[in-house]
Amino acid sequence: MISIEPLSSHLGASVRGVDVSKPLDAATFGLVLKAIGDYGLLRFPGQTITPAQQRDFAAHFGHTQAIRGRLAIFTAPGVPEINILSNIKENGQPIGATDAGVIWHTDMVHNETPGFANVLYALKVPRRDGRVLGGTEFYNLQAAYEDLPDDIKARLTDAYGVYTGENYTSIERTPFPEYGTNSHKAHKKEPVRHRIIATHPISGRKTLYCDPGHVDYIEGLPPGERDEMLQYLLKHIMQPKFHFVYDWCEGDVMMWDNLRTVHHAVLDFGPEEHRLIWRCQVEGDKVFDAAFVRQALSQARAAA
Ligand SMILES: [Fe+2]
Repeated sequence: MISIEPLSSHLGASVRGVDVSKPLDAATFGLVLKAIGDYGLLRFPGQTITPAQQRDFAAHFGHTQAIRGRLAIFTAPGVPEINILSNIKENGQPIGATDAGVIWHTDMVHNETPGFANVLYALKVPRRDGRVLGGTEFYNLQAAYEDLPDDIKARLTDAYGVYTGENYTSIERTPFPEYGTNSHKAHKKEPVRHRIIATHPISGRKTLYCDPGHVDYIEGLPPGERDEMLQYLLKHIMQPKFHFVYDWCEGDVMMWDNLRTVHHAVLDFGPEEHRLIWRCQVEGDKVFDAAFVRQALSQARAAA
């Protein structure tokens, strides 16, 4: 029996009764897919899984992307889709990436079809004086869209965010120091365009799909309005009412939806406060297939 309990007033739910180490039957998969559409972030507590099992669970939801670029050296042996995030050193050498995801962003925004989800598994969580460190923070882009004034929604109807991967600093972001600074730059990619006001492929609800860390500019507005609008949107997204902090616990498998959130990792722990998390990225190929989603949601309705 699956139970789903919200984690906050606007984002996240805890899901019990799912064994992530095993293949999901059609009914369970449908319920989980519907839940990620409804809640944007799902916590599966108390799991024990291998890297291959994590990848196989993630693959229910879409193609799992092998880790590329500077993080590719930190992957699980034989499972290149599992990226190791950690500050632990063995024999003086880091076993994982220490500074991944520090700026606000959403993952796989440079994919032609926007990336769907991340599936993470926590093995070690740092704590100090009983307080959990190394959380992951989010802003809810669906709630941000719904709170936009009608005139802004109208102006953005045919607007696109353009992403090239090279111009991380092309937009003046100094009013928002909380973005942090990039410690790296991606190499130039073919530009991709994504609708700023996107329709979520599972929930059918609108979301303000705008990656503050990586968007180059907005297309579809008069040139004189582009930067002003981008500044407005970034400030709008980063309001406390859309904010959510996820505190990890060992054994958590946690899945978040990149289409309706931006996130960043909080580096508030020291080198001896060990954190170890495995990460897997899920592409949008399955969820942007309307027949696939329809079938899964009908399974969920039958199982509910
Ligand atoms: Fe990320």
